[in-house]
Amino acid sequence: MSLSSFVFLATVLSSSFALPSDLNSRQTAAAPNPNAPLPGWTFVGCFTDAVPQQRTLQEHNIVNPGMTPALCTEFCGNFSTPLNFAGTEFTDECYCDFNIQGTAVKVNDTQCNFPCGGDSTIDCGGASLISVYQNSNTGVGPIPTNKAKVGNFVFSGCFKDVVGTSQRTLIQSIPIPGVTIERCTTACGASGFTMAGLEFGQECWCGNQFNPLAGNVTAALTDCSRACEADHTELCGAANRLSVYTVPPVVSSSSAAVPHSSSSTSVAPTVSASTVAISSISAAPTSTSVKTGTTVTATASTVVIPITSILSSPIPISSIVPKLP
Ligand SMILES: *[C@@H]1O[C@H](CO)[C@@H](O)[C@H](O)[C@H]1NC(C)=O
Ligand SMILES: *[C@@H]1O[C@H](CO)[C@@H](O)[C@H](O)[C@H]1NC(C)=O
Ligand SMILES: *[C@@H]1O[C@H](CO)[C@@H](O)[C@H](O)[C@H]1NC(C)=O
Repeated sequence: MSLSSFVFLATVLSSSFALPSDLNSRQTAAAPNPNAPLPGWTFVGCFTDAVPQQRTLQEHNIVNPGMTPALCTEFCGNFSTPLNFAGTEFTDECYCDFNIQGTAVKVNDTQCNFPCGGDSTIDCGGASLISVYQNSNTGVGPIPTNKAKVGNFVFSGCFKDVVGTSQRTLIQSIPIPGVTIERCTTACGASGFTMAGLEFGQECWCGNQFNPLAGNVTAALTDCSRACEADHTELCGAANRLSVYTVPPVVSSSSAAVPHSSSSTSVAPTVSASTVAISSISAAPTSTSVKTGTTVTATASTVVIPITSILSSPIPISSIVPKLP
């Protein structure tokens, strides 16, 4: 027998021996459905989608009659900054966002029961219902958050704004490129304002108080759910919602200059302690303003803010407030 016939025979023999076990493994290992979400994406649930004003996932979308979770997760993961969430809806729609918007309500998964346009064995949301997947691949950013303290500004909560009227909650719009918490608070501070509000992912508003004709209406913290377009790790309000940051009133115990004293209506953060890291409170003893009257005329109208107004479990006032002269 020649060498080549031997090799041929050996090949035939080994493949005929291998065949049964190969067949066996092919039959038992379920082939992954190529239309399932891509690796690194996991189903997080069925959510309501308030069409069309308050989409649950707002950043990008596509419609494709051949929609599948694979196509939607590929689309949302394909951006230079991959999105954290992808969602299929109404058989053929796909939406992406860095965050699940606060307007969404999680419902029973069985409600997302429309067949995907590209694979009827998989569900693609429903009418005003979206099947949401989360991206945990490496390189995918964290879900955006508020910051407890940025420079002199302390996070004060989420507040309602009324778009389309002249009575905005914070009256001064500041047109800065690339709105982030850092840039907006810096811009407001540089213009002499003590309050900064971020809205709709990209707007920066300033003031020294809430507009008395409009504002100071607290919203659920989860309402301010929109990632800043210029920094997807930070939250910048939402539609009709302001993420508000405030410079706590300055403690004036000497003749030191008091910033913004001409409009010194002080601002009490209305946020509960659970939304502000305790470190940001202890790091900001200036949360309490004092009326000194005789020593600093400019502070005569300064309002005293009880520190307990920002704490859900009061800290003994003596542990925070500096002794007055
Ligand atoms: C993702 O990007 C690749 C490369 O640019 C492109 O070929 C593909 O069509 C994109 N996929 C989707 C779903 O947009
Ligand atoms: C969801 O709905 C199904 C069908 O109605 C029901 O069997 C199941 O218990 C529900 N699950 C939850 C978590 O409510
Ligand atoms: C907002 O309202 C709260 C509660 O009425 C009040 O304590 C706070 O001083 C107000 N803040 C501003 C800036 O108007």
